[in-house]
Amino acid sequence: MKELIEDIEHYLRFYQRSYSAQLRLNGVLREIVWPEEGQKITKNTGVPVVKSFNKILPQRSAELESYYQEIKNCTKCALHTGRKNFVFGYGNPNADLLFVGEAPGREEDEQGMPFVGPAGRLLDRMLSAIGLKREDVYIANILKCRPPNNRDPLPDEVAQCEPYLQRQIELIQPKIIVALGRIAGQSLLKTSDSLSKLRQSVQMYQNIPLLITYHPAALLRNPRWKEQSWQDLKKLKNMLKSV
Ligand code: URA
Repeated sequence: MKELIEDIEHYLRFYQRSYSAQLRLNGVLREIVWPEEGQKITKNTGVPVVKSFNKILPQRSAELESYYQEIKNCTKCALHTGRKNFVFGYGNPNADLLFVGEAPGREEDEQGMPFVGPAGRLLDRMLSAIGLKREDVYIANILKCRPPNNRDPLPDEVAQCEPYLQRQIELIQPKIIVALGRIAGQSLLKTSDSLSKLRQSVQMYQNIPLLITYHPAALLRNPRWKEQSWQDLKKLKNMLKSV
C-alpha cells in the first residue's frame, strides 16, 4: 500500500509539473491540492490529494458568491429551459486579468464551470505560456447558459445576459480584459468588425483595456493561427507588467 501511495504521489507531481494542477476524474474536473510542506501523504493521514473543484469554489469572494446566488436561477431568456447548469464564472475574485469567452459548451454546461472542455485545456496552456494559472485570473462568458448545439449567441440573449458580466466586472475590477474570439469581442464592443480588425489595437470596455484575440477552440481548428495568438499573448504579458 505504501508503495502504491508513493507511486500515485510521484505520478501526480509529475502530471502537475508537466501539465497542470487540474485533472479530470470520472468526468469531473478536479484540482490537485498538496498537504502542508513536510506532511507526508500516507494511507492514514486522510489528506485529500485530489479535491473536487466545487469544494474549493470559494475562489469567489463573498460578494461574487452572493451575486451568483442572486442570478443563478435566471429565466430571462429561453436558454434557461435547456441548461443543466448556469455557468457563472471561475477564478480569482481579485484577478487583474479577466478572460471573456462566448458561451458555455456541452462540458461547461454539465460541470457548471467555464472552459473545462478541449478549448479550456488549450486556454490553460496559453495561460501557462505567460506564467499564469487558471487560479490567477478570472474566466467568464458573454452568455451564462449554453445555446443549443453551441450556436452563436442571439442579440437578445447577449442583451439580457450582459448586465451579469458587467456586474462581475464591477466586483472583480480587473485591470485588463481579454475577449476570446470574434463573437466575444463583437458582443462587448457592439460592432461587426472582423477579428483581424479587432485584434489590431487595444480597445476599452467599461473603461478597462480590452484585448481581443483568437478563441482557443478556433486555434484547435486552425493551428496556423497559433503564431498570431502567441503575438497577442506576448502583448498581454507586456501589458500586465504595467498594471
Ligand atoms: N467556449 C466558450 O466560449 N466558453 C466556454 O466556457 C467554453 C467554450
